[in-house]
Amino acid sequence: VICDHEEVGVWAARYVQRRILEFAPTSDRPFVLGLPTGGTPLGMYRALIAAHRAGDLSFRHVITFNMDEYVGLPEDHPESYHNYMSRNFFDHIDIPPNQINILDGNTTEPEQECERYEEKIKQLGGIELFVGGVGDDGHVAFNEPGSSLESRTRLKNLTYSTRLANSRFFNHDLEKVPKLALTVGVGTIMDAREVMILVKGYNKAQAVYRAIEGSVNHMWTISALQLHPSAMLVCDDDATLEL
Ligand code: GLP
Repeated sequence: VICDHEEVGVWAARYVQRRILEFAPTSDRPFVLGLPTGGTPLGMYRALIAAHRAGDLSFRHVITFNMDEYVGLPEDHPESYHNYMSRNFFDHIDIPPNQINILDGNTTEPEQECERYEEKIKQLGGIELFVGGVGDDGHVAFNEPGSSLESRTRLKNLTYSTRLANSRFFNHDLEKVPKLALTVGVGTIMDAREVMILVKGYNKAQAVYRAIEGSVNHMWTISALQLHPSAMLVCDDDATLEL
């Protein structure tokens, strides 16, 4: 899907809303939604909040799983994904707090934390719709180049290029950007019944090219989505310039 730059978030929000309403979730059968962070999805969160405020959308029977979280940032650090999600989304909608799942980047037992996350997703019958973004280098969640396309939720080293790209959120101070993260795996994303990736800007054009026209390979983990039965990219014009 190609939209105007400002429309990417609005389009994505409308899509999420339609899926939730069609599904008609109940307490017995909640809608399981995977969610991203980063700059790109902010427009989607704004539009979802607006739909909620207009009385057109409730999250009472939605259960969310975030893609990833930095290791070692206090939860109340402004750039922790816990904090990002509360500030930009959860504080403004009617989701019960116990239906929000975000990996704990401060756990002393990362392996168990990741296993528990996978187990919980499985118990709920899997993720209905996984919304994501993509890094300049084609990483999806924090599945950096070289990640196995079968990977599950785990601890991951962040690459220099990802840390550099994300340093804009840390006053451009690379030393402040965490070196590790917990992230769902490519396999975890591939198991979702539907995947929607939001992409804006020319710096993502190479990743979009690799996602759609390149070979499926673990150096551009986004390319795994070619094997997914129901995956789409929602792009602005600049993101499609290498196609
Ligand atoms: C981070 C996140 C990814 C996200 C990517 C792109 O690395 N872990 O999940 O897709 O950034 O973010 P942005 O939208 O800010 O370009």
